Amino acid sequence: MLVCHCNLIIQKEIEEAIVGLLDADPWQLIVPAKVYHTLSKRGRCCGCFPNVVETIIRVTEEYHRRDDDADTVTFLGRVRELRGQYGSRLHERRNTDHRAA
Ligand code: FES
Repeated sequence: MLVCHCNLIIQKEIEEAIVGLLDADPWQLIVPAKVYHTLSKRGRCCGCFPNVVETIIRVTEEYHRRDDDADTVTFLGRVRELRGQYGSRLHERRNTDHRAA
């Protein structure tokens, strides 16, 4: 599945890059820019970044689940909870009725 239309990056490429980064350091902070740098790409419109963040969370969770580390899964659940609490509700503090475009 094509994830990034600007750079023509498919889901599998992103997942492989994330696993490669986790193999190098399982506890590093992985962000979309780091994944794209690994692929020798960079975000252009960055509209794909929310999906890349979801992929990073899912792949990281699966990666650490292989080690059967229950604390990691609990932590990622907490991150999801906080994102639902702050991220989705506030929309970066922009009101939908005050859009410029
Ligand atoms: S869709 Fe990925 S940078 Fe534009």
